[in-house]
Amino acid sequence: MPVETLIKEGDCLDVLQSQPSSSIDLMITSPPYADSRQSTYGGIHPDRYVEWFLPRAEQFLRVLKPTGSFVLNIKEKVVDGERHTYVLELILALRKQGWLWTEEYIWHKRNCYPGKWPNRFRDAWERCLHFTKEKKFKMNQDAVMIPMGDWAGSRLKSLGKNDVVRFDSKVGSGFGKNIANWVRRSMAYPTNVLHLATECGNRKHSAAFPPALPEWFIRVFTDLGDWILDPFAGSGTALKAAKGLGRNAMGIERCPEYCALAQEILNDAQLVLMQPESHYVTAL
Ligand SMILES: C[S@@+](CC[C@H](N)C(=O)[O-])C[C@H]1O[C@@H](n2cnc3c(N)ncnc32)[C@H](O)[C@@H]1O
Repeated sequence: MPVETLIKEGDCLDVLQSQPSSSIDLMITSPPYADSRQSTYGGIHPDRYVEWFLPRAEQFLRVLKPTGSFVLNIKEKVVDGERHTYVLELILALRKQGWLWTEEYIWHKRNCYPGKWPNRFRDAWERCLHFTKEKKFKMNQDAVMIPMGDWAGSRLKSLGKNDVVRFDSKVGSGFGKNIANWVRRSMAYPTNVLHLATECGNRKHSAAFPPALPEWFIRVFTDLGDWILDPFAGSGTALKAAKGLGRNAMGIERCPEYCALAQEILNDAQLVLMQPESHYVTAL
């Protein structure tokens, strides 16, 4: 099935005004971080981050379908020796705006930035906040099952009496210990921690996603032919992933050079961003 992939130049706040309501199945994005990259594409002061984000999020809420998902990759920076609270404040403000804060995924950066600080260790994770409009939304859990490996033998063998009691109680709180609900043949459902290497600087954007990150969320939250939106598209990694997975995609990017870069990456038929599924494999 042929898919459409569009890149629009401008501020997503303006560009989205003409986008029809309830037209997007998944929004996945990594917005400009607070102040941290002023030398490249500008930043927003941490104290004004929520105020800057909310009008844009209002448009995101409008264009997202009721069954859709919004995945926001973000991490609070350190300001004056402590973690700033703007991400926490943003979560609360988005809930007030009408979003449900459905889940939080952790992107564990397997090759995080090296260094040594006197008061903290290397920062090896970022949030992928999952917001929805409704409690019931599209989710294809089977699309990201992972091989169980040796874990099956050791963990299942050691199921104790309490495991069985909990299964029997049928509390309805999820899959519980009913192994059949979450293990199929040699495959199991993953956790909410994604172990992925960061993009290794082989492309021309300083904060590009590792391709496997948008790819994973696209597989989980959309079907073939659905529409993906990245309102802060950068070099277009999410758009390329969407195209490769047979989804339509629209990216919005304020900076003309990055629009051109994204277009170049999208046109490059040789550039396959997809990672093998084993990339996600992790100890359970
Ligand atoms: C963290 S980067 C996104 C990188 C992208 N995920 C990738 O893989 O290349 C954020 C991008 O948002 C763009 N940007 C900043 N403010 C914007 C706005 N108001 N509307 C659209 N794009 C914006 C920046 O120019 C930057 O390229």
